[in-house]
Amino acid sequence: MNAKQLRLALLAGGLSISTSLWAAGPTPAMLSNTCSACHGGFGQSVGPSTPTLAGQPAAFISDAMKKFKSGERPGTVMGRIAKGYTDEDFNAMGEFFSKQKFVRYPQVVDAAKVAKGKELHNQGCNICHQENGRQPGVGGVIAGQWLAYLLITGNDFHAKKRPLPKGMDEKFASLSKDDVEALMHFYASQQ
Ligand code: HEC
Ligand code: HEC
Repeated sequence: MNAKQLRLALLAGGLSISTSLWAAGPTPAMLSNTCSACHGGFGQSVGPSTPTLAGQPAAFISDAMKKFKSGERPGTVMGRIAKGYTDEDFNAMGEFFSKQKFVRYPQVVDAAKVAKGKELHNQGCNICHQENGRQPGVGGVIAGQWLAYLLITGNDFHAKKRPLPKGMDEKFASLSKDDVEALMHFYASQQ
């Protein structure tokens, strides 16, 4: 039974309910509950290829949703999910998740790749992804993000399937596939 049928059934049964209950629409927390099945409770993902949303800047989340909706950013499921919502919904979800705590889980990483990634990070990435990617900045928190997700999105950037922001594009242009992999192991190693 959907909401409309339920209301009709209630009315038919002579029950009176406040119309404002139906007109109010879902709260930001209710909207965001839909996302929890995949992104974890409060957006704290338990991995491995679904990113944590908790603690990400509100603008980063709503911007990502707009790009999934328009198809500018590739995704397996998010393009379809994003189409169901308005910009106001995206802002509400962004506000909700930005107030939650980013939780880091220990992950299996390759020590040699972590060491190489650290060097590359200091050369070209720390300027925007400060404190080893811990600072949300403009690009979101990447320190302690799930490795499987980072590898997929890193490869999408490298293959130019996901649009590269200005300033990051020139850094990526000089990286090999192995470099990208090393960088992602470095971010995933952050606790
Ligand atoms: C069926 C599982 C699933 C559901 C439900 C889901 N997501 Fe996602 N989300 C993903 C996956 C997987 C990705 C990685 C991109 C892709 O493959 O689509 C992702 C990526 C994202 C990103 C990009 C994060 C980053 O670090 O760049 C955002 C933002 C996001 N989702 C928000 C949401 C919101 C808000 C909802 C609820 C309306 C939601 N997602 C519901 C699986 C899901
Ligand atoms: C000039 C600033 C800048 C530089 C330099 C930069 N980035 Fe970014 N980065 C961004 C911005 C902005 C985003 C968000 C882009 C978007 O979502 O469209 C981002 C997003 C990312 C993401 C995806 C985060 C997510 O969850 O969706 C990864 C991974 C990343 N950057 C890695 C790197 C690496 C590795 C380097 C160095 C080779 C680098 N960046 C250099 C600004 C920068």
